[in-house]
Amino acid sequence: MLIRKAKIQDLDGMMALINEYAQQGLMLPRSKLSLCETLHCFSVVIDDIGEVGEPGEVVGVGGLHILWEDLAEVRSLAISEKAKGKGLGKKLVNHLIDEARELGLRRVMSLTYQQEFFEKCKFYVVKKETLPHKVWKDCINCSKFPSCDEIAMIRELAPTPVGVK
Ligand SMILES: CC(C)(COP(=O)(O)OP(=O)(O)OC[C@H]1O[C@@H](n2cnc3c(N)ncnc32)[C@H](O)[C@@H]1OP(=O)(O)O)[C@@H](O)C(=O)NCCC(=O)NCCS
Repeated sequence: MLIRKAKIQDLDGMMALINEYAQQGLMLPRSKLSLCETLHCFSVVIDDIGEVGEPGEVVGVGGLHILWEDLAEVRSLAISEKAKGKGLGKKLVNHLIDEARELGLRRVMSLTYQQEFFEKCKFYVVKKETLPHKVWKDCINCSKFPSCDEIAMIRELAPTPVGVK
């Protein structure tokens, strides 16, 4: 398995994965346009046992969206049914956390139904009211707005000591 930044060639695989879970009400659907516009925010997990010379299958996807100068959000996180339970979700979240650290961010949040999974990824539950208003900008377009039943969770990122990369 390989975790890397998403490429245009991954779009169909990303959309299939996200929208399959969206149909089950587990996450928000994403249009191809919305994924194209935010492709640079996404990373993917690739199953590298494809044919030689063929791109591997997208079995995981997740985005890191910067919300404010000290806060980013993990969005559209999904691991395919066949790849679940192998630690890939946690690896992908840690990959996004590393990216947030490199960008100099101090906190990463998630709005989720998967509390236990995110607790394993070192997030903790916070009251939604404690999050900045900017978080709710995109929620206005959601069918669940304003009665969102997702759990707000945060992971604090320890500052990297000076001189350490
Ligand atoms: C949630 C999801 C991303 C987890 O991916 P995964 O690859 O199966 O998770 P991992 O194998 O990395 O699990 C990491 C840890 O979390 C635990 N965990 C994973 N899913 C869990 C769940 N639903 N309930 C409780 N614990 C869970 C695992 O047991 C593991 O624990 P360990 O570190 O003690 O071994 C995946 O199940 C998924 O895509 N679900 C559908 C879409 C979704 O709900 N996305 C979240 C939107 S915010």
